Amino acid sequence: MSGTSLDGIDVALTSLSESGEFQLVTAQTFPFPETLYRKLQQLIVNQVSKLQDLGEIDIALGQLIGLSINKLLAAQQLDAKDITAIGSHGQTIFHSPVGEFPFSLQIGNASLIAEITGITTIADFRQRDIAAGGQGAPLVPAFHQSLFSTPDEDRVIVNIGGISNITLLPASSEEAVTGFDTGPGNVLLDYWTKLQLNKPYDHSGEWAASGICNNEILEQLLDEAYFKQAVPKSTGRELFNQQWCETKLAGYKQEIAPADIQATLTELTAQTIANDIITYAKSNSSVFICGGGAHNNHLISRLQALLGDKKVATTSELGLHPDWVEAGAFAWLAYRTINKKTGNLPSVTGANHPVVLGAIYPA
Ligand SMILES: Nc1ncnc2c1ncn2[C@@H]1O[C@H](COP(=O)(O)OP(=O)(O)O)[C@@H](O)[C@H]1O
Ligand SMILES: [Mg+2]
Repeated sequence: MSGTSLDGIDVALTSLSESGEFQLVTAQTFPFPETLYRKLQQLIVNQVSKLQDLGEIDIALGQLIGLSINKLLAAQQLDAKDITAIGSHGQTIFHSPVGEFPFSLQIGNASLIAEITGITTIADFRQRDIAAGGQGAPLVPAFHQSLFSTPDEDRVIVNIGGISNITLLPASSEEAVTGFDTGPGNVLLDYWTKLQLNKPYDHSGEWAASGICNNEILEQLLDEAYFKQAVPKSTGRELFNQQWCETKLAGYKQEIAPADIQATLTELTAQTIANDIITYAKSNSSVFICGGGAHNNHLISRLQALLGDKKVATTSELGLHPDWVEAGAFAWLAYRTINKKTGNLPSVTGANHPVVLGAIYPA
């Protein structure tokens, strides 16, 4: 798995029993080499590429994913025959789920992953859901349901990656699981931290905590049609990016201290997530956070404050460390695919029906 943050490739080794019981064995993040990081970043930010460059980045990424998997397996003293399948999400370079020709484009050549690892590889998970009329996203809610839902309480799972998405897991099995992208997670926080401090992210949210939220800017930031859009909905860096941020901050950057802007951007992430939880989740729901945002203490404490007496914890409390939920989800989705089981939730993506996701590249 490699999400919108471009912080690296998460490789999770998981075990799934015949009945689908999930266990994380081990996991590791492999950072992108500088050159590939820059090429991916440029591709995603500029949204243009020469076809030759695009083809080469697809191969370079496929190679890196394959080699990263081999490294993790070697460290575990495992080889290809020990592994049933790889689920590779790839890197989203464009997500455009509405309009006349909806699509979502992931790269990271899966033929090459199968070739390098000698392991059957499943990729292109989002395509079939879109073909069936869905957004192709988010796809993790089915995994959240399988692993985290309980008849004992209503739960909300919040995945704070570059973009944030929430999954609402009702205690009652009669009620549908729902979920959607709430908007920015870390993407704007990372952008501003890189620009101002030349660091990849605001460690623990300490910089944001040192600033004061500016309510006038916050209002500007919250004035975005996506936040009011009806569900199902999904988004990405095509909308919430440097340009979006620059436009919203125009006129303020000279007057306002950078730390105050970081505090304000963090408040935007916290408020948009909290507002959606308050609007869509049952009032007594417990909230469990995963994704890299779980490490941002300031963000989490703002979320807790905005959610009042709701319980806020990380998915560690449910038995899976927040760093590996998304990678685990794509292992689980691969398991669904090779067993010809459906992987999307139409109540989440808006698809016309449940479908078996992905394309299989045999070993
Ligand atoms: N210790 C930390 N403190 C604050 N933020 C963190 C920390 N560790 C990770 N993050 C944030 O999490 C992001 C990565 O989260 P991740 O779930 O991998 O997102 P994605 O799915 O988009 O790759 C980083 O870019 C960073 O913003
Ligand atoms: Mg990541």
